[in-house]
Amino acid sequence: MDPHSFRRSCAKFSTGVAIATVLDAEREPHGMTVNSFTSVSLDPPLVLICVDRTGNMLERFEECAHYGVNVLRNSQAALSVRFAQRGHDRFDGIEWHRGVTGVPLFPESLARFECTVRQRVIAGDHTILIGQVVQCEVGEGDPLVYFDSNYRRLAP
Ligand SMILES: Cc1cc2nc3c(=O)[nH]c(=O)nc-3n(C[C@H](O)[C@H](O)[C@H](O)COP(=O)(O)O)c2cc1C
Repeated sequence: MDPHSFRRSCAKFSTGVAIATVLDAEREPHGMTVNSFTSVSLDPPLVLICVDRTGNMLERFEECAHYGVNVLRNSQAALSVRFAQRGHDRFDGIEWHRGVTGVPLFPESLARFECTVRQRVIAGDHTILIGQVVQCEVGEGDPLVYFDSNYRRLAP
């Protein structure tokens, strides 16, 4: 199995883009761009995200009781880039508020989920975080799409 071919093949599966968020023990916000967000179950309402075990954010997601998922709209590509890059305060100058569980939520996002962590599954170089949705909200607009390693918009 050629790893390059695996990456390129996976990139042909178009996804939305979301920012997964957590609070640390000092209640400071952290977040990262994810496209691994998937709905898993309707009853109970379960979703998952996959977190890279080699990244700095793993520690945050290993400790948290709750996490948030902010689904991005098509005007939020810059936010996606910002939350995928290191070397700066990702929340600096960003409008956000705490949800009922405390997790950071972005008011402009297309949909917002607050989850209680139910299971952590180590799968290769990622950890799958299965969360039970305790609160969700939906906004208006079109999604930011990720396809072939590029941001796209839905065709009109
Ligand atoms: C569109 C897009 C989708 C991404 N999806 C994921 C993902 O599902 N899981 C993940 O661990 N990293 C994903 N990343 C990479 C992380 O956002 C990035 O490595 C992380 O924010 C780096 O922070 P850290 O090294 O401080 O952990 C994605 C990046 C982009 C641009």
